[in-house]
Amino acid sequence: MSRQAVIDTIIKLKKERDAVILAHSYQVKEVQEVADFVGDSLELSREVTKVECSTIVFCGVHFMAESAKLLNPQKKVLLPVMEAGCPMADMVTPEALKRAREKYPDAAVVCYINSSAAVKAESDICCTSSNAVKVVLSMPNKRILFVPDKNLASYVAGHVPGKEIIPWEGFCATHSAVTERDVEEARIAHPGAEVAVHPECSPAVARMADYVGSTSGIIERVSKSSCGAFIIGTEAGLLYRLQKDNPRKRFYLLSKGLICPDMKKTRLEDVLQALEKGKYLIEVEDEVRRRAVLSLERMLSVV
Ligand code: 13P
Ligand code: SF4
Repeated sequence: MSRQAVIDTIIKLKKERDAVILAHSYQVKEVQEVADFVGDSLELSREVTKVECSTIVFCGVHFMAESAKLLNPQKKVLLPVMEAGCPMADMVTPEALKRAREKYPDAAVVCYINSSAAVKAESDICCTSSNAVKVVLSMPNKRILFVPDKNLASYVAGHVPGKEIIPWEGFCATHSAVTERDVEEARIAHPGAEVAVHPECSPAVARMADYVGSTSGIIERVSKSSCGAFIIGTEAGLLYRLQKDNPRKRFYLLSKGLICPDMKKTRLEDVLQALEKGKYLIEVEDEVRRRAVLSLERMLSVV
């Protein structure tokens, strides 16, 4: 089937199956183009609560589709590639989190949305990279156990005076591989360009940046800045959206390694298969869902 035929069939099936396609900004360009909505984790969590169609095809990684299911238990949520996971989300298990809670009984547990439903069920509240600071500040506790990303935890710790952040030892292999040397070399190659990085990068890299923020934060910064060129320190997929929205500005990826293998697993053909065969269906056990959704809903009520 030609690429255009695949796109036409996706559009036709979407109507027939009463489906909406949501995609994270790290998805490949072709998938972003067929999506009804493209956004970051927070925007997508908000968007799923507004969906009217009976089926959501979630082009992203497993925890994102699972969060969509938590917020929409009555809808059919499909993840086109079941193996598309987030290795960082797997760095914390509910058992290990329960043990840590016993060690820090006075701490509130804030879990990054990049986590399983079972981990969300053991947490007090969720956050994303765009609202982590506000979420932490909303908690009455002085101590916060922040799971699983130690780099986001470090970024948050620098913006919440009076709070003690206890970081988990997780990290994103894609973002944390960016080095200070990458920043130095990119600044030499593109003098005058602003450096904008995701808080999943290491604290050393974040300190060298002009701006640190989530994907939606980077989009906003770029649109408001008078600068004409940007060095982007997050997953390569975001450059498609940035270039489309800002055709007169120039964008350079901070490091060649900024490609998340899991986010790149979903292709147009997988979206087509998802619609044709109704796969892969995301399910969450009732008891886990009941507790996990509270963490997500608390987050959405804060920001
Ligand atoms: P956002 O919260 O910016 O969408 O990032 C999600 C993610 O997986 C970052 O690697
Ligand atoms: Fe997970 Fe990193 Fe990929 Fe985001 S970029 S989905 S944190 S592995």
